[in-house]
Amino acid sequence: MTNESSVWDRPTRFLHLGLALTVTVQLLVSLFMVPPGSRHPSTLLGHVGFLVHEWAGLCALCIVLAHWTWSILSSGSAGLGHLFPLTRDGRREIAVELRELLSGRLARCGPRGGLSGLVHGLGLLAVSAVAVTGGMLFVMFPANGDPSALAHHIGDLHSLISKLAWTYWCGHIGMAFLHQFAGDDTLRRMFRPR
Ligand code: HEM
Ligand code: HEM
Repeated sequence: MTNESSVWDRPTRFLHLGLALTVTVQLLVSLFMVPPGSRHPSTLLGHVGFLVHEWAGLCALCIVLAHWTWSILSSGSAGLGHLFPLTRDGRREIAVELRELLSGRLARCGPRGGLSGLVHGLGLLAVSAVAVTGGMLFVMFPANGDPSALAHHIGDLHSLISKLAWTYWCGHIGMAFLHQFAGDDTLRRMFRPR
């Protein structure tokens, strides 16, 4: 059933579309790109892949910053409260939904807090951290030759956090389809242009 309170506002859906596209491109391109100074021999595909990774990564960073700005400035179903429902009532709801999940019942979805809101908030944090460290690499990574020791450490951090982004991406898409097949119509509510 679709009513106004089960639908995200237009800016949130627009920002989400941008995140879904850019972050998905980033993760998939990282599988074959070859950054400068890599141990692997550079191929044309690897080189172009890295250029795409740099520029799509900067787009992802801008969208992440716009998403945080929108969430901080908004209230209600677009505000920070539903991504981090950590009030006493919010924590109680999460505990109930966790118990229900253990007994095989899916947590409720939609633009509300609860367990799904918290997982979305944590996912947005992970993607933000990988985009910010990517932005730092954009400034520090040399076009040719070896990266400095600091750029090297930030590259390691970027790779480490990207594992969290992969985990979120797989789990999030899996849950979105699970909810869709369970009859929640969540994909259409999030992606349908209106
Ligand atoms: C890794 C990139 C992505 C990020 C960072 C991301 C982030 C988010 C966030 C923060 C929300 C909650 C929006 C809010 O309540 O304000 C959300 C919801 C949603 N996302 Fe994504 N998303 C990503 C990729 C995708 C992709 C590729 C799909 C396609 C299957 C997708 C499908 C959905 C759906 C259907 C919802 C609504 C879930 C519900 O009903 O509770 N997302 N996403
Ligand atoms: C949301 C944005 C981004 C995502 C999701 C992302 C994701 C990834 C992933 C999954 C890897 C592979 C890690 C591994 O296999 O260990 C990677 C590596 C890398 N990314 Fe990004 N990235 C993003 C933004 C950027 C940006 C803006 C830059 C700018 C230059 C960048 C530069 C790099 C570099 C240099 C590497 C290789 C690091 C190394 O091997 O030490 N990334 N990224």
